[in-house]
Order: sequence, then structure tokens, then C-alpha cells
Amino acid sequence: MKKYLVIGNPIEHSLSPLIHNHWMRKYHLSNSIYEKKKVEKKDLKDIVDQVRNDEIKGVNVTVPFKKEIIPFLDSVIGDAHLTQSVNTVCKINNEVCGYNTDVGGFKKSLQESPIDYKNKNIFILGAGGVTSSILQAFIDTAKKIYITNRTKEKAEELKKLGDLSTALPRLGTENIEVIDWGERPEACDIVLNTTSIGLTKGENLNLDFKDYKDKKNILFYDLIYNPKETNFLKDAKLRGNMTMNGKMMFLWQAHMAFKIWTNISPKIDDEVIKLLD
Ligand code: ATR
Repeated sequence: MKKYLVIGNPIEHSLSPLIHNHWMRKYHLSNSIYEKKKVEKKDLKDIVDQVRNDEIKGVNVTVPFKKEIIPFLDSVIGDAHLTQSVNTVCKINNEVCGYNTDVGGFKKSLQESPIDYKNKNIFILGAGGVTSSILQAFIDTAKKIYITNRTKEKAEELKKLGDLSTALPRLGTENIEVIDWGERPEACDIVLNTTSIGLTKGENLNLDFKDYKDKKNILFYDLIYNPKETNFLKDAKLRGNMTMNGKMMFLWQAHMAFKIWTNISPKIDDEVIKLLD
């Protein structure tokens, strides 16, 4: 039996098993199973060792361990290195490697959206575990990136990470700006919620976007996909802005992880999209 896991804490809400087990059935990987497991920080080394011993074939990592798992891995590849955030683990050539498919998954979701996301002003709300991936996704193509977080120091830390990974000369230090929580940039085209506010129904960010009324070309993107429509998106819709939730990003990051593990490109079709409804 080939065993796959998603690890995190909490983990009950994870829909990754639903998607991956669907694909495993669809592509006749009848000896594979994908489960969720709630773990503590002290368990991470053991999980990585089990990948090394071939007891576990692949792991998805979610909040709050995407960074914490790094010291236990043999190598950290590409976007995972640039973001210091690992969401996919796999053994390749006898090395346990960490990958990041959040960056690619997010980019893919934008490519499929009705807007052209290149050369735009981006306003990122939050500086939590997933935010470095969002920053990385925009770093080569944005006109300017603004980041705000309740705890400002965490946004400053992210900016440093952004500066390191900047593919010069496209976006320099001066093009990533940290602004105070509650403030807004003068102009922005995409507003992204990467905070956890909205995961619990009825929660409100309490940021004022009144000036954006009737601005049809501004996209409000919430990484949260469950609930489907957070207040952040509801309010944006009422104002007449474009909206998008995190469903397609979630599916694409899963697609990319599945491909790393099995070398199969699973289809993102209506059937799998509906599984999340
Ligand atoms: P972590 O902060 O451990 O990385 P996360 O779930 O990845 O956890 O991120 C939570 C994000 O939501 C953070 O940006 C957090 O802001 P702080 O860094 O200030 O904690 C944000 N967040 C959570 N609750 C919030 C609230 N009530 N008001 C504003 N931001 C909030």
C-alpha cells in the first residue's frame, strides 16, 4: 500500500483527502491511500523519517508547519526555498525533498481568471504562513506590492524574504512596501486576503474599502474557499468589484503535488470542482 498524508494542526477541515483519493481512484492507483493526520511539532522528524524509509510515499504540509518542517528535509527545491514554505514532500533519488506548489497553484488560478494580473498594483492583507507564496507569485510581474498585517513586524520580515528572492532587476526593494494595518495604498488593482479572518462564518476584516465602489476592474481575491463567500468577498460584490475565492488555487496546488508524487497530471474538471461545493 502506498500511503500519502496531509499533516497540520488543526487538520479536520482539510479537503485534500477528498481530492487526492478521487484522483487515485480515477487513475486506478488502487494500492494508494491519502489520509489526514493531526500532528505536533515534535512529530515532524518522525514523519520525514517515514518518508525516508518508504513507509510514507508523499506528504502535504499545512498550517502551521510549512516552515517548521524545513530543518528535517534533505533539500528544499525552487519556490519552497524562495518562500521558506513547504507544502509537498517526496523522496527523490534517496533524498527527502520539500516542494512548494502554492506559488504555482496560485499563479495558475490567476492565469485562468478573467483579469490580466501582470504589471498591476497588488495589495496583500496578512503575513501568515501562506503569504510568502503569494508574494513570490507576484514578484516578477507586479508593478508594486503593498503588504499590511496587524502585526507589522511580520510583514517587514516578509519584505526581507521578498527582497532576497527578487529576480532583479524587475522588482527592487522599493517596489515592496509595508503599510500600517488599516491604511490603504492610493491605487491598487488586486486586493488579496491571506489572513485567517473569514474562516469562521461571519468574521469581518473591518478594513474600509468604500472608495472602491463601482470599480469593476478591481479584483478582491480571498484565499479562503470554505466558506465559499466570506464577508470580504460579499462586501466586494456589493460594491461592484470582481471577486474570486481560493478554490482554484487549492485544486491547482493539489494537482501539482499529485504530479510530483505520481507523474500523472490529474484533470481539473467539473467533477473534481464539484467535490468542493
Ligand atoms: P501564523 O500567523 O501562525 O502564520 P496563519 O494562520 O498562517 O498563522 O496567519 C494568520 C494571519 O491572519 C496573520 O496574518 C494574522 O495576523 P497577525 O500576524 O497579526 O497575527 C492574521 N489574523 C488573524 N486574526 C486576525 C485578526 N483578528 N485581525 C487581523 N489579522 C488577523
